[in-house]
Amino acid sequence: MLSKNTAMMQRDLEVIWHPCTQMKDHETLPLIPIKSGKGVYLYDFEGNSYIDAVSSWWVNLFGHTNEKINARIKAQLDTLEHVLLAGFTHEPAVELAHKLVKITPKELKKVFFVDNGSSAVEAALKMSYHYHLNLGKRKPLFLSLTNSYHGETIGALSVGDVSLYKETYAPLLISNRQVPVPIDQSEDAAKIALEGLEKVLEAHADEVAALIVEPLIQGAGGMHMYHPAYLNGARKLTEMYDVHLIADEIMTGFGRTGKMFAFDHTDISPDFMTLSKGLTGGYLPLSVVMTSDTVYQAFYCDYNENKAFLHSHSYTGNPLACAAALATLEIFEENDILGDNEKKSAYIREKSNKFLSLPNVKEVRQQGMVTAIELKGYDVKERVGLKLYEYALSEGVLLRPLGHIIYFMPPYIITYDEIDKMIDVAYKGIQKI
Ligand SMILES: Cc1ncc(COP(=O)(O)O)c(C=O)c1O
Repeated sequence: MLSKNTAMMQRDLEVIWHPCTQMKDHETLPLIPIKSGKGVYLYDFEGNSYIDAVSSWWVNLFGHTNEKINARIKAQLDTLEHVLLAGFTHEPAVELAHKLVKITPKELKKVFFVDNGSSAVEAALKMSYHYHLNLGKRKPLFLSLTNSYHGETIGALSVGDVSLYKETYAPLLISNRQVPVPIDQSEDAAKIALEGLEKVLEAHADEVAALIVEPLIQGAGGMHMYHPAYLNGARKLTEMYDVHLIADEIMTGFGRTGKMFAFDHTDISPDFMTLSKGLTGGYLPLSVVMTSDTVYQAFYCDYNENKAFLHSHSYTGNPLACAAALATLEIFEENDILGDNEKKSAYIREKSNKFLSLPNVKEVRQQGMVTAIELKGYDVKERVGLKLYEYALSEGVLLRPLGHIIYFMPPYIITYDEIDKMIDVAYKGIQKI
């Protein structure tokens, strides 16, 4: 008689091809079938619990099956589950768009709904290119930072720079050029990277539509972090050279960097901002591209002038997802989430200093509610991250290292005791490997 977990795993593997996975790994690596979730915990079919220290791929903010978000979705479900957003509208989308305009940098006045992170990046790239075209300029090239990640669809992959995901598809990609990311969190590194950006702009600005950045933290590129001075400088340069600045806040938005948005660490506005992940508290797929009145106006004219942005997705602005987003924003409004997070991240930082005493630890870095521990001395083929992943699961913590980078990105409702456990398990795991 198979255990409940094993039976579910076997039934899964008969039919499901999992994301970002070499499926053969599952000949030896068990899948973890999850039956339920509550707060920071996920539970399997045999009652084992796992602290979700990666917020289920960086989406969850206020825990699994959060009462407030659940109630809001349930109420919406009995009112309206979905309606197309072309020619029609609905209250959750309208209210959400108003709230987003209010809380994002001041130039961002218009909200274009999409339905997942990569699609939001695609839409922002197309919108930027199309804006210039509507003004009579052909600018088919994009700039992005070395080591960046913006998603897996063709356009989003083109502006990424993680070869593991990108290399295979190189012949399919659109025109993109990498400019240097600051090598560390210092202001000096930001200055040096800006010099690199300026050189490329000097030579190519007339073909470049936009520079896209993951502000302050490059997530999938190993939680690489840099100083806000880079964003200030990049804004100045892009303005000077008539190039858009796209802030991909899909991972950094909604408090992850210590402020509501990474751009709140500066006093500037990007031309576009993409948001997803935490937008619905981690419940439902939804994303937006936010942009300025200037961009919006370049598309606003008689239909026959052929300048409209004719881009759509079936589930654009889904009412259930918008309801989840409204509940998520209400939690921010009714509680001092950013203040509490500041204390929690200081605690995580202090506790994480002990990693520095381990001989295989190169660096500990932190930006708000994201903390990363970089290991040294390992070859990629050793799959050290996988070993840590397996060890942490056996101890009841879901960590999902990016190669030799271990990171904590927990839901904000994590308690101090749970933080202790998360860190202790990672510490013992690093000692063991
Ligand atoms: C910065 C950033 N942009 C875009 C994406 C893509 O989002 P999605 O996975 O919803 O397509 C991600 C996903 O991790 C991301 O971190």
